[in-house]
Amino acid sequence: MAKTTYPELVGQVRAGALTPEAAADRLLAELTPRERLGLLDGDLGIFQLAGLAKLMATTAISAGAIPRLGYPGVRFSDGPRGVVIGNSTAFPVTMARAATWDPELEERIGLAMGREARAQGANYSGAVCINLVRHPAWGRAQESYGDDPVLLGTMGAALTRGLRRNVMACVKHFALNSMENARFRVDVVVDEHALHEAYLPHFRRVIEAGADSVMSAYNSVNGAFAGENRPLLTDILRDEWGFRGFVTSDWVWGVHDGVASLTAGLDVEMPFRMHRARELPKALRSGRVDPAVVEATGRRVVAGVIRHAAQRDEEEPGREVVACAEHRALARAAAVEGMVLLRNEPVDGAPVLPLPAGLGRIAVIGPLADQANLGDHGSSLVRPPSTVSPLDGIRAAFPGASIVHADGADVDAAVEAARGAEAAVLVVGMGADDEGERVVNEDMDLSIFGFPLTLKPVQRIVGALTSPGQFRRGGDRDLLTLHPQDEELVLRVAAANPRTVVVVIGGSAIIMERWRQAVPGILMAWYPGMEGGHAIADVLTGAEEPGGRLPMAFPAAAEHLPFFDPDASRIVYDAWWGQRKLDRDGNAAAWPFGFGLGYTTFHVEALEERDASSEAPLRVRVGNTGGREGSTVVQLYAVDDAADTPVPQLVGFRRVRLGAGEETVVDVPIDLTPTRQRDPATRAWTARPGRWRIIAAQHSPDAALIRYGG
Ligand code: BGC
Repeated sequence: MAKTTYPELVGQVRAGALTPEAAADRLLAELTPRERLGLLDGDLGIFQLAGLAKLMATTAISAGAIPRLGYPGVRFSDGPRGVVIGNSTAFPVTMARAATWDPELEERIGLAMGREARAQGANYSGAVCINLVRHPAWGRAQESYGDDPVLLGTMGAALTRGLRRNVMACVKHFALNSMENARFRVDVVVDEHALHEAYLPHFRRVIEAGADSVMSAYNSVNGAFAGENRPLLTDILRDEWGFRGFVTSDWVWGVHDGVASLTAGLDVEMPFRMHRARELPKALRSGRVDPAVVEATGRRVVAGVIRHAAQRDEEEPGREVVACAEHRALARAAAVEGMVLLRNEPVDGAPVLPLPAGLGRIAVIGPLADQANLGDHGSSLVRPPSTVSPLDGIRAAFPGASIVHADGADVDAAVEAARGAEAAVLVVGMGADDEGERVVNEDMDLSIFGFPLTLKPVQRIVGALTSPGQFRRGGDRDLLTLHPQDEELVLRVAAANPRTVVVVIGGSAIIMERWRQAVPGILMAWYPGMEGGHAIADVLTGAEEPGGRLPMAFPAAAEHLPFFDPDASRIVYDAWWGQRKLDRDGNAAAWPFGFGLGYTTFHVEALEERDASSEAPLRVRVGNTGGREGSTVVQLYAVDDAADTPVPQLVGFRRVRLGAGEETVVDVPIDLTPTRQRDPATRAWTARPGRWRIIAAQHSPDAALIRYGG
């Protein structure tokens, strides 16, 4: 009988002759027992640990490949801000893209990333990171879409749709992974309400949008590691949500017990043959593991790979798509659209931004002015073929001006430069040493083949062998403000030049109370990607309008935030963080969730009164009341009029672009999940008690807006 090869099976599924599951069974029938077990972990030997980072920068990492049958296995590549293989397009970080509130743009970015991943040999992308940023100190906040379940779900779903046209999309990290330093050991304690109603709805949304796979988290949840957590991986994911795809572990330290992870519902241990390779043969012989579980797990993975391959109808992308002009332009557009103008006060009778044409001398100041600064140096590190720093961008955009650069190390020199210029642009904020994935987690021990191995020597080897520059300090942020010396620099420069604009770089909220009133202009640029310098200059000149809206509130004080202990071994997550905690406690944000200025102004008005009984899109009239073309984000909030202190919840949004003086009526989609509750006993969702009203606004509404309308 002819062999049943993978390409033949994909063809039969495509033709409708087989289901993916039936095709997977055919493939499984061809496999040796060893090959079947090989489906359940990565294809690398543990001895390759030291070279892993280098390998990931050059190739996709496979799991379960069976070359003799043409079966590629799962071929993984990260990550959230672009493809980590080769010299790919470095897009603005996820948080910057969250600030675009533009799912269509995000879907196009997903398509671009998927093409670049595919062209470099991957069929599976780890780019969809949607952990809710419970606290802005989280080192990896930049990899996610902020702190609102509806925004997280909508943007994550958009990226997923875009990616899936070329590669399988993996959504991560399931679940409650939002602390970095303690990520390998912290136990997150959460009740059923907070879990299902706050921390998981966006995962469900992305899965419903077609995510092929889920990556489990490192941390534990209610006492069980996420990679061995049956309630999460089986009861919720598969039984309650009906997820048909496969689950992979977070890497190396995401599995502690091969058998426990398997029986809990984790399909593939990534990326090494490690715990499972050692434990499963024995466990099968002794009867501790049912062969049917191994079979069902392998089937899920193979069916997932076949299903995606059969659905894929794009042309095979060639390597020329990698960092092509079109993708770079997309990176630049996303950086512009995600930049949030926080403050734009008048100087000489006009808002400080855009800068007036014809400036003769501009001082560009600050430690980050001449750095492209693409984000952290963890697993999401992308190495684009070129970068543009803010200084490069400003030089290119103001060809007629003399540009003076001072890095700020010598404050007096920087002040002198500012004093002698017609405008000062300061670039300050965070970098890979301040925040990011922390690969050095000194408190974690790893057991390999039963031998305890502390991480320190491993990390030293990894550090020595990997490309220089990767694995910077990272970790959770120590500071929620700018560095004190940068605050000082801002104050001194602002005192020397009234036309001072501060461009802030960073992955999440920054407290700016010490200096924000002292400068007329503040632009939150996040980590704006490889074309970031051009994008910043586009906004400064006014060639483009900054389109961003905050994907998380910027608080006025650290005390207004939830409890956060980077060293915690146990922490309780409740449903109070971000804007909703500020609202409950009566603390005003420095800038509320959803806030952002443009170069024009808008009026929005809901065209119907609405309670929370219908999810039909709401009609909203939007008018550009200013003097130039621009955009706003219409935001719908559900407000409970029966509550003593209303805590508005985002239930929908839509970006609208209009010419000067134009008006239009748009339909804004609604997701009422935030107004619903789940009964833990029956798992049924019902309306949360209250008198709900939907209001249209341009940022999270304060009491006056709630009372009198947006
Ligand atoms: C990260 C994941 C990533 C994986 C592979 C882990 O350290 O937590 O987000 O996908 O590495 O790069």
